[in-house]
Amino acid sequence: MATQNTVTLFLFSSFLFTVITSTQTCPNAACRRGDPVIRFPFRLENLQTNSCGYPGFTLSCDREKQTVVNLPMSGPFTLQGIDYGTQEIWINDPNDCLPARLLSLNLTDSLFTGVYYQDFTFFNCSSDYTMYRLNPIACLSSSSNMVFATSAFRVVKFLSSRCNFITRIAVPVELPFYEQVLSSDLSSDLRLAYVVPGCGRCESRGGRCGFKNNSSLEIACTNAPRHGLPRSARYAITIGAGVPTLLFAVGLVCVSSAAGSRSLARDAIACRNSALQLFHSPHSLRALTGPQ
Ligand SMILES: *[C@@H]1O[C@H](CO)[C@@H](O)[C@H](O)[C@H]1NC(C)=O
Ligand SMILES: *[C@@H]1O[C@H](CO)[C@@H](O)[C@H](O)[C@H]1NC(C)=O
Ligand SMILES: *[C@@H]1O[C@H](CO)[C@@H](O)[C@H](O)[C@H]1NC(C)=O
Ligand SMILES: *[C@@H]1O[C@H](CO)[C@@H](O)[C@H](O)[C@H]1NC(C)=O
Repeated sequence: MATQNTVTLFLFSSFLFTVITSTQTCPNAACRRGDPVIRFPFRLENLQTNSCGYPGFTLSCDREKQTVVNLPMSGPFTLQGIDYGTQEIWINDPNDCLPARLLSLNLTDSLFTGVYYQDFTFFNCSSDYTMYRLNPIACLSSSSNMVFATSAFRVVKFLSSRCNFITRIAVPVELPFYEQVLSSDLSSDLRLAYVVPGCGRCESRGGRCGFKNNSSLEIACTNAPRHGLPRSARYAITIGAGVPTLLFAVGLVCVSSAAGSRSLARDAIACRNSALQLFHSPHSLRALTGPQ
């Protein structure tokens, strides 16, 4: 048992060491555990000062502690994720009716644009067309009408003569569909990208992006490893060296605890679970590759 504790302690302390990094003038923030970690160019209103974020990238926390991005003309959306390297965000509707929000989405005056667009035509039907395997948008339908969104030409043709045309919208979908979609309830996150400020390269190199000074909007990259390896190389090293090391350590824990314990089955399960937890959490890989 003593060996197990020592090895576990070693594992945890090395993890903590890499996860908890230097303190900055603009510390990272989040609305709640598990929500996106907010840093430049974004900032959380009330938690990070003005100079911690780029104009137009101010976020807030709502009553349910969800992270909220307010798009000009289109209103508040929950922020589901941020990729600081590719400069992309994933958003959804706080009231779980994304299609309703799509009907009034206008990104013209926002700092974000879609990454992949797919055209969807919306129809309002008085009859039930689910027998044609069309999937209605529940939150826009009622006992007397059903709303469908389709990107398939033949479904558009079919519904055009039977239902009321509502609109045709270029939807900034999460992933490109390689086929026409017969019908969709369009509940998956919208994926948007921003071009300015260009912090992606800095982030990908493990640097920290921020304003150069208080009197201009010019950005600077700090803390980037001077002879830093690109992130892909660091991932390769993680997979090549870090994972076998971890497996070995986990194995050691399992062997030592099994040797010193009577309830082998329970310990085997505990070992397997801790190993699974370790490898299923993207945070553990991230922790290994160091702060971004
Ligand atoms: C979006 O808003 C801009 C003005 O901000 C307007 O010119 C444009 O027509 C709008 N687009 C749609 C599809 O309503
Ligand atoms: C669909 O039609 C019904 C009945 O005409 C109407 O009440 C409803 O607002 C329409 N829905 C949409 C999304 O246009
Ligand atoms: C800008 O000024 C504020 C206080 O006025 C200071 O806390 C902050 O560190 C400054 N930021 C930069 C980038 O110089
Ligand atoms: C802020 O940065 C800009 C651009 O690098 C520079 O031209 C300007 O002189 C700086 N201002 C101060 C007060 O340091």
